[in-house]
Amino acid sequence: MALPLRVAPSLLASDFTRLAEEMQRVEDAGADWHHVDVMDGHFVPNLTLGPPVIAKLRQVSTLPLDVHLMIEQPAAWAKRYAEAGADLLSFHYEAAQDDVEGSLQAFQNTGCKVGLVLNPDTPVEVLKPFWSQVDLILIMSVFAGFGGQKFIPEVLDKVRQLRDWGFEGDLEMDGGINEETAQLCRQAGANVLVAGTYVFGSPSAKKAIQSLRGLPAPA
Ligand code: DX5
Ligand code: ZN
Repeated sequence: MALPLRVAPSLLASDFTRLAEEMQRVEDAGADWHHVDVMDGHFVPNLTLGPPVIAKLRQVSTLPLDVHLMIEQPAAWAKRYAEAGADLLSFHYEAAQDDVEGSLQAFQNTGCKVGLVLNPDTPVEVLKPFWSQVDLILIMSVFAGFGGQKFIPEVLDKVRQLRDWGFEGDLEMDGGINEETAQLCRQAGANVLVAGTYVFGSPSAKKAIQSLRGLPAPA
């Protein structure tokens, strides 16, 4: 099993007054996906953007839009985000735990790829009934809600556990990812790395993205 390594810069750390230019900047630097953080002010104490903005992002990029929903009642919104142009929709287990099965169904009905997300304090065992039904699992390495937090290394055990169970889909990590922590994520078995502050805050997005892949800096 050799899943390609994907680097997904998080637009949360970009200049929101110039989203199209920021997307182009990281595409030129070698980004594979755009990671779009949707926060509703309820599931997390922060608020970002929703379907109308995602529909605009869709118009200015052909890269996959990896939409991370940090919202309550995610299933009720699945269709709206799919219609806006998301390629991959991930929702939090914690927000859907009353009916994970039904929520998965609602997301799968949209035709998008579907991901389940776990916050750092949610044990990986909760995924046992569901891991074989999803395209992607996102293991948060910080608590969802804000960029610029410190990587929590204990969550790497969840990534190893999922690979031990035989999960062969995309395993994504998000939060506090930089050159050093990316190496730990890759070694544990993750193949999708989200990075906001590290990529957008770097003087060279290209160098930052290369380093997340574990490659030497470009000339
Ligand atoms: C946090 C978001 C992340 C965030 C990561 O809730 O899900 O995608 O942008 O930011 P950094 O890379 O700065 O930790
Ligand atoms: Zn995210």
